Amino acid sequence: MRYDQWRMPDRSEAEEFIRLFHAEHPDQPVPLLTRLRQVADHLDRYGTYRHTRAELDFGARVAWRNSSRCIGRLYWQSLRVIDRRNAVTPDDIHAGLCDHLRLATNHGRIRPVISVFAPATPFRSAPLVWNSQLIRYAGYRAADGTPIGDRAQTGFTDTVRRLGWRAPGGWFDILPLVIQTHGDKPQLYEIPRELVLEVPLSHPDFPRFAELGLRWYAVPAVSHMRLRIGGVDYPLAPFNGWYMGTEIGARNLVDPDRYDLLPVVARLLGLDTRSESTLWRDRALVETNVAVLHSFQAAGVRITDHHTESRRFLTHLAREEAQGRTVPADWSWIVPPLSGGVTPVFHRYYDAAELSPNFHLDEDARARANGTCPVGP
Ligand code: ARG
Repeated sequence: MRYDQWRMPDRSEAEEFIRLFHAEHPDQPVPLLTRLRQVADHLDRYGTYRHTRAELDFGARVAWRNSSRCIGRLYWQSLRVIDRRNAVTPDDIHAGLCDHLRLATNHGRIRPVISVFAPATPFRSAPLVWNSQLIRYAGYRAADGTPIGDRAQTGFTDTVRRLGWRAPGGWFDILPLVIQTHGDKPQLYEIPRELVLEVPLSHPDFPRFAELGLRWYAVPAVSHMRLRIGGVDYPLAPFNGWYMGTEIGARNLVDPDRYDLLPVVARLLGLDTRSESTLWRDRALVETNVAVLHSFQAAGVRITDHHTESRRFLTHLAREEAQGRTVPADWSWIVPPLSGGVTPVFHRYYDAAELSPNFHLDEDARARANGTCPVGP
C-alpha cells in the first residue's frame, strides 16, 4: 500500500472523527449534522474531503494522545499545528521544514510542533521526506570496515551519496533532507547550519568526558510517519517534542548498532571490563546519562529525565481516565531503558487499544529511510 498515492478516505472513519471532534468541542460554528452532511457530500462528489483548520489541530493532537509508545503525552493539548497543505514545490516544502525547526528549537526552549503537508489527491501524489528525522547524523564504514558515525544511518547515508551528497566522513555530520514531490525525483537540501542546535557533551564530575568530542542535536523531529485523521492520510507530517535523556544516553550513544560507546566510556572511567559482574556496562551507562542531562541543562536546552517523565505519564493516565478516556500504551516502549523498575510506569499494565487518529510507520517509508529503497521516482 502506497499512502502517498490517492485513496478514497474511509467513510465511517471520517464520520467517527467528525463526531469525536464535536463531542470534545461542542461549541462549533457549524453544527455536527451539517458538517457530517458536508463531509459525506464531498466524499460523494470529489472522493475526498478537506479538514477545517480546527479539525486539523484537533486531529493532530489526538494522534499524539493516541500514540501508545510515547511516554510524553501529558502535554498533548499544547501541540502547535502548522498547516502546510498549500506547500507544493520542493522549495516550498524545504522552507516549511526550516520554519518548523526554527519554531520548534526556539533557542533551546523546545516546543512540540507538527507541520502537516498536503495529502494525496486523485491528480497529485503527496509530498514525501525520505529522512526518518529532520536532523540525523550520517553513518559510514571506513576502508577497513570500522563504523564511523550513526550506524543506523549507513543505509540512508549511502542513498544521499548516490543522490550526489558530498559526505564529510565525520562522526556527527548532519544529513541533508531528501524531498520528493509529485512525478519528480528526490531532491537534496542542506539544512542551514544555524537551524541545527547541538549540545556538546560533558560530565559534571569527569572533565575528560568532554574530550571524547561527543554531541547530540536538540530537536528530535520524526519525519517518516504518516498521520491519519478521519480516514485522510498525511504521509508528510513531521512532529517533534523535546528529548528524554535516556533516548540519547541509553540508546543512541550506546546501542551496539548505533554509536556503541559503552566500552569507550568504561575505559575513560577506568572501569574493570574483564568481567560482566563488575557491572561496568551499567556504571558507564549511568554516567553517560548523567552527562547527557547535565550538558543539555548547562546549554539551556530543554530535556527531561526518565523519573520525572514517568511520574508525568501517570498524571496523564489519571487525567485521561477522569475524562472517561482510556490511554493506550505499549509497556515495552513506555518503560525507560534505564532503571525501568525504579520508575512507577514499570509496575503496571496498560490498555493495548489502537485508536484513531494516529501515526503509522509504513513499510515503504521505512525502506526509504534505511536505504533499502532504490533511488529514483
Ligand atoms: N528516540 C528518537 C531519538 O532518539 C526520538 C523519538 C521522539 N522522541 C521525543 N522525545 N519526542 O532520536
